[in-house]
Amino acid sequence: MLPHSDLSATTRQESAPKPSKIPCHVAIIMDGNGRWAEKQGLPRLAGHRVGMDRIHRVLEILAEKGVAFVTLFAFSTENWNRPPGEVEGILELLEEALRSKIQTLHDKNVKVVHLGKVDKLAPSLRRAVAHAQKLTQNNTGITLNVAFDYGGRDEILEAVRRIIREQIPAEAVDEKLFSSHLFTNQCPDPDLVIRTGGELRISNFLLWQSAYSEYYHTSTLWPDLDEAELERALESYSNRQRRFGNIAPKA
Ligand code: IPE
Ligand code: IPE
Ligand code: MG
Repeated sequence: MLPHSDLSATTRQESAPKPSKIPCHVAIIMDGNGRWAEKQGLPRLAGHRVGMDRIHRVLEILAEKGVAFVTLFAFSTENWNRPPGEVEGILELLEEALRSKIQTLHDKNVKVVHLGKVDKLAPSLRRAVAHAQKLTQNNTGITLNVAFDYGGRDEILEAVRRIIREQIPAEAVDEKLFSSHLFTNQCPDPDLVIRTGGELRISNFLLWQSAYSEYYHTSTLWPDLDEAELERALESYSNRQRRFGNIAPKA
């Protein structure tokens, strides 16, 4: 286990100069748990359990590198279509992880934020989400966004509904205002989106926010993701030229 400061971006930045071209916000589509389990001859839920256990180390590594925001896609609005046993199992694992890890995360100054809706979640999971967010809301280290019952389209529709409910005049709706009505309103757009598990698709993840994100795909299954693969993702990012539609890279 690493010392407290390793998950605290604020503390880390005080002691070491920030390397150039480290993404501020890394978002990860954690895919491949089911295939990982099948390869080992285990039930799919065993893959989800090992996948959940991988999160802490990945967060530690990214915090050490100086990443300030990490978003993890844990359960999509489409994942409700899976067999009920798998859905229930994943959501139970999420609740268990939230409950058992939240004090450690809080001690390490991590701010935990849920992205997604809560109305379809079991009351006990809702309570775990509320507790995690309340406990860590004033923390100043790395922000961990956990996206579950999250879908990019759903988030956009939800933002539209909120804007209408607030009776905001059409002329006042610009990108800044719209962004401020998304679940991610407290964090910058992702600089780097990583997808494990080999698929080359976005699967309804951060549709609005990833307009200019850099992508990194790997066939490594999420439970196998290690420091070397994360290094490759960050290395790949540091070699990208981000032009944002312009002709010269933005400094
Ligand atoms: C990702 O792993 C986790 C969730 C979508 C909940 P999968 O369960 O999609 O794993 P594969 O893609 O079937 O291997
Ligand atoms: C994306 O993975 C969602 C999460 C990782 C939570 P899926 O396994 O659900 O994506 P598809 O179905 O292959 O597009
Ligand atoms: Mg999958």
